[in-house]
Amino acid sequence: MSFGWGFVGPGGIAHKVAAALAVSSGGHLAAVASRDAGRARAFADEHGGDGTHSGDGEHGPANAYGGPDAVDRLLADPTVDVVYVATVHPHHHAPAKQALEAGTPVLVEKPLTVSLAATQDLVDTARARSTFLMEAYWTRMLPGTQALLDVVASGEIGDVRAVRADLGFRAPSDAPRFHDVALGGGSVFDLGAYPVGLALTLLGRPAQIRSLSTLTPTGVDGQTTLVTTHAGGRTATLATSIESWTRSGAWIEGTAGSIEIDAQLFDVPRLTVRTERGETVHDHRVEHGHHYMLDHVHECLADGLTESPLVGFDFSLALAAVLEQAVEQGGIARLAERVGG
Ligand SMILES: NC(=O)c1ccc[n+]([C@@H]2O[C@H](COP(=O)([O-])OP(=O)(O)OC[C@H]3O[C@@H](n4cnc5c(N)ncnc54)[C@H](OP(=O)(O)O)[C@@H]3O)[C@@H](O)[C@H]2O)c1
Repeated sequence: MSFGWGFVGPGGIAHKVAAALAVSSGGHLAAVASRDAGRARAFADEHGGDGTHSGDGEHGPANAYGGPDAVDRLLADPTVDVVYVATVHPHHHAPAKQALEAGTPVLVEKPLTVSLAATQDLVDTARARSTFLMEAYWTRMLPGTQALLDVVASGEIGDVRAVRADLGFRAPSDAPRFHDVALGGGSVFDLGAYPVGLALTLLGRPAQIRSLSTLTPTGVDGQTTLVTTHAGGRTATLATSIESWTRSGAWIEGTAGSIEIDAQLFDVPRLTVRTERGETVHDHRVEHGHHYMLDHVHECLADGLTESPLVGFDFSLALAAVLEQAVEQGGIARLAERVGG
């Protein structure tokens, strides 16, 4: 069985994920929706034009839908089994909700939405419709993350007491989605999922959240630093930036040693485990890292799941709650869409 994917928002990340789909097992590009018919057609031709793109058997060339009703037509397409929403963040909620209401499973780029209320709404809809919903926190499925969790579970570094993680780069000034409030700009929404996601994965939902941001002239956060406390007196110190190239790694600190994740944090390429006995390096560099996420979705769908066991609703709700606190405490400009939508 090869699942037919309907991509919504054929932009930068959609191209990467389509390339990963071509090397994943169990899926192929079935259709593309864009506000712009030409962009949809070009994407469909590039990634699904030959009709056998995934190597998973015969299927027709990908369909392209453009214009204001493009998502409706994509959802009505019988070749679409699962939807991937890859629009800019404030435009995740609407097509994701449409997919869920149509009973079509959906993978949504991170952050799932730009408010806790909108994330809760998608989770409630997924539950009510018994339809699969997952946030595209692809880092969780990478071999490097599994190796990290294995080292922690082995007890090699003792009890984890703290996580320090950061991710930052100089965002191009001519890319509006990083700078425009209406497009969910700022470092927290764009990069927060990675350091916060790591802390949530290792330490669980925070008990306390303190966040400070510096704002850019457009009202989004250029830099944000979050400190959280977790059960058992554990802490996380997390930072994001769209102004500078940060170390973009992480330290996991335990009572018997530490683990360092080298840059880039999001694809967990290399772990260095340091204990009294010395240093061990685990190399987990991968190409097309997003295909681990796609393979995971295919497995979930084949098993009839409506929630991922790795990136579940509790994770997405906790992440949304932390990002919302960062927005509130950091004085980051709010989107009109944020409440309820
Ligand atoms: N998982 C990862 O590794 C990763 C990496 C980068 C980004 N992301 C996430 O992926 C999402 C898209 O990022 P991107 O860099 O791919 O963005 P992008 O290329 O700037 O835009 C993606 C799509 O969003 C829609 N869009 C852009 N501007 C819009 C506007 N003003 N109003 C309505 N729709 C608009 C467009 O869809 P149409 O074609 O319909 O116009 C566009 O094709 C973001 O949520 C981001 O956080 C994830």
